[in-house]
Amino acid sequence: MNLNSLRPLQGEGKKLFIETYGCQMNAGDSEIVVSIMQREGYRYTEQIAEADVILINTCSIRDNAEQRIWGRLSEMRRLRKAKPTLVVGIIGCMAERLKEKLIESESGVDVVAGPDSYRDLPSLVRKAEDGGKAINVELSKEETYAEIAPVRLDKNGVTAFVSIMRGCNNYCSYCVVPYTRGIERSRDPQTIVREARTLFECGYREVTLLGQNVNSYHYDEVGFPELMAMVAEISPLLRVRFATSHPKDISDALLEVMARYDNICKSIHLPAQSGSNEMLKKMNRKYTREWYLERIAAIRRYMPDCAITTDLIAGFCGETEEDHQQTLSLMREVGYASAFMFKYSERPGTFSARHFEDDIDDAEKTRRLNEIIALQNTLSVASNEQEVGKVREVLVEGESKRSDAQLCGRTSQNKMVVFDRGDHQAGEYVKVRITGCSSATLFGEEVSK
Ligand code: SAH
Ligand code: SF4
Ligand code: F3S
Repeated sequence: MNLNSLRPLQGEGKKLFIETYGCQMNAGDSEIVVSIMQREGYRYTEQIAEADVILINTCSIRDNAEQRIWGRLSEMRRLRKAKPTLVVGIIGCMAERLKEKLIESESGVDVVAGPDSYRDLPSLVRKAEDGGKAINVELSKEETYAEIAPVRLDKNGVTAFVSIMRGCNNYCSYCVVPYTRGIERSRDPQTIVREARTLFECGYREVTLLGQNVNSYHYDEVGFPELMAMVAEISPLLRVRFATSHPKDISDALLEVMARYDNICKSIHLPAQSGSNEMLKKMNRKYTREWYLERIAAIRRYMPDCAITTDLIAGFCGETEEDHQQTLSLMREVGYASAFMFKYSERPGTFSARHFEDDIDDAEKTRRLNEIIALQNTLSVASNEQEVGKVREVLVEGESKRSDAQLCGRTSQNKMVVFDRGDHQAGEYVKVRITGCSSATLFGEEVSK
């Protein structure tokens, strides 16, 4: 087996183009979709102009994510004028949320398929090829696509995502995911380990285990800490990461396993959402600021060197200036290495849309978000400056964007490092001394052997 055996098949067949929005789960799903369509004779293309079928894998997390996709759909109408036989499908979270409305709209969509109905895609597409419209938005209690080998669409051949569970049961009051992805279910660990081992044998050196709340992974006797250990045991040369942890149930057992294996990366994404207990309660996050800070302290106890990143929402329903200040103070207290920061966007049908008023006006949300972003920028610089002078092992992912004389790769802490190529290439581990930084990147030089 080699890398090519995981890549899209070449040759004759109707051409499938797929465009992916949203989170890493969607990126993983697109690779499953290509695998399913390939078995039915379709061939993947990166050229939209030669496509017979275009699938758009969509996200509903915030209104602007959906607006972008409506924009793409008007573009599709133009492509269809030029090629009347073209089939256009909407798959993923927006398909699940809007269902028939997508077919009924003026957008010219032929196929609508939700996240649990991808096995049905070939027959849905065929119906559309025969001139009909086709929809399947059934959610499932069991589907995990466990035995389907994803066709790898990543560019580098070094880092890959492995989906370990689907759905979410947490019902954070602002969030659409439980409605678009259905209930939580875990994938058979044997199929996960097999997939990760195959990736390693084909030259990959890092896998990220994916789920909306990986801490609640369980399949028979195997919980998430056990699964992490099983994957880490494949080889000391295979790095293991995961996303995302929910603060309410990140356990000491997991931290202990992370500390035990050098090849489990020392980086945790722990979305706080807010620093205010009032807001956390309304968000139904099921933890307090104090609980969250205790978990941060636990991470630091087990792994003093662990980078911590987060997600934050500005301007949630009823958020006062005092609540907002609490978020800023939480950020300072933790000293996040980086963060994803968003304005609250009301999603129809969620608990907060039904029960709370979206009462912070947009200008005020923007002001608060900008304050959060400015503070995070300072914290990111500070976090990167702490790296200067240290020697880190970097897994090379490829050439740096700016120059082919330089390579880029990540440290265990998930920080991107750029350094002179020397005689190295993608997939190798290189010891690099960090010599400088910006807010987003570290610069370094190889430590001579
Ligand atoms: N399952 C992950 C995150 C999934 S969504 C977790 O719970 O951590 C990614 C991020 O989008 C969330 O962490 C949250 O910060 C943000 N988000 C979700 N719904 C949102 C909404 N309605 N408005 C603004 N941001 C939202
Ligand atoms: Fe959404 Fe909360 Fe589930 Fe994350 S844990 S996907 S924020 S409901
Ligand atoms: Fe978006 Fe669905 Fe992911 S709503 S963030 S693509 S789970």
